[in-house]
Amino acid sequence: MRSVLLVITGGIAAYKSQELVRLLRTAGHSVTAVLTEAATRFVTPLALQTLTEAPVHTDLWSLTGEQQMGHIELSRAADLLVVAPASADFLAKMAAGLADDLASTLMLATDKPVLVAPAMNVRMWQHPATQANMATLRARGIREVGPDTGPMACHEFGPGRLAEPPAILAAIEDFFREAAAIGPLANRHVLVTAGPTHEPIDPVRYIANRSSGRQGFAIATALAALGARVTLVSGPVELPDPPGIDVRHVETAEEMLTACQAALPADAAVFTAAVADWRVALPARNKLKKSAGAPTLALVPNPDILATLSASGPRRPRLTVGFAAETEDVLAHATAKLAAKNCDWVVANDVRPATGIMGGTHNRVVVLDAAGREEWPMLPKRDVAIRLAARIAAALAAAG
Ligand code: C5P
Repeated sequence: MRSVLLVITGGIAAYKSQELVRLLRTAGHSVTAVLTEAATRFVTPLALQTLTEAPVHTDLWSLTGEQQMGHIELSRAADLLVVAPASADFLAKMAAGLADDLASTLMLATDKPVLVAPAMNVRMWQHPATQANMATLRARGIREVGPDTGPMACHEFGPGRLAEPPAILAAIEDFFREAAAIGPLANRHVLVTAGPTHEPIDPVRYIANRSSGRQGFAIATALAALGARVTLVSGPVELPDPPGIDVRHVETAEEMLTACQAALPADAAVFTAAVADWRVALPARNKLKKSAGAPTLALVPNPDILATLSASGPRRPRLTVGFAAETEDVLAHATAKLAAKNCDWVVANDVRPATGIMGGTHNRVVVLDAAGREEWPMLPKRDVAIRLAARIAAALAAAG
């Protein structure tokens, strides 16, 4: 999942930005929308808020004090700024460095990459002023998609139509792929496990846990964003496969172990999955009947995937990272796990129900390694993932 700040400027094509948001969200990206005042005449902030599932920002706000800082932060939090549609007027403002509303202020305040999708009347597009502005923007490294040639709302024909939303999405995905290709984890392979496992009791019942898979999926995405080739071995979850990641779906711990071993060699492996510790020794072939009375389930231990792959040997990933979800004595248990499982790092978290961490959106972790421990603040799982991916990149770079 990458984060896109979508700036919508005025023009009849603004309605297509809604389809673009839908496509971006389906592709697993988060979108924050900023509308110019003119854009609000063509598309409503409420529609965008519903589609992005995030607050929408318009230039109708007063830019004072803290709020102005907040808006500048807004652009810094994004991986990419996309202006779609980009009107002739807005391109001119970008080229000149004007900052007289929220959208143009963001463009001037950002240090993030920018993609523009121009849309305007054919004569406005062909006018030397617009072409000179585009040349200025290109020289600054700003990317563009479109405009397309075709019939226009103003009954003219020629270049000026907003590129179709799937083409804009493709340009965005191209950008993310290229950015990843030069990332610090380019040419590295990282294995990630995620989600719960389901251990069958009979054909319809199973033993499971509350893991949502969110943290593991976010880690896989963050690693891929740094250029890693990622194999994500996931137990049953409700999440869509993240784009650009090789996802292997499994149900049981034994299947997860087999899929992990098949994915080797890997430079690093992150074991986020909440693997069931036990499975039913002999799952019933047919559905257990209530009339037969309460069954006694004989359990046998599952293989420990983290310990198995962390055992020294030629196929051991250089860096293995375990998670320790604990409800008591978090640090003591995590420290013991580091040694017991022969892994390099343990990411420990407190999953007592009151913390809301398990199955929730935020996480507070302590990262332990041979050198000591690092306490991170409560962060969205996405940010924990980004920090962890950066730490993994630094460790692999240091190891050579
Ligand atoms: O021992 P515990 O289950 O608390 O260890 C948690 C860590 O070990 C997690 O990283 C989890 O993914 C991993 N694990 C595993 N296979 C198991 C049990 C746990 O990979 N069977």
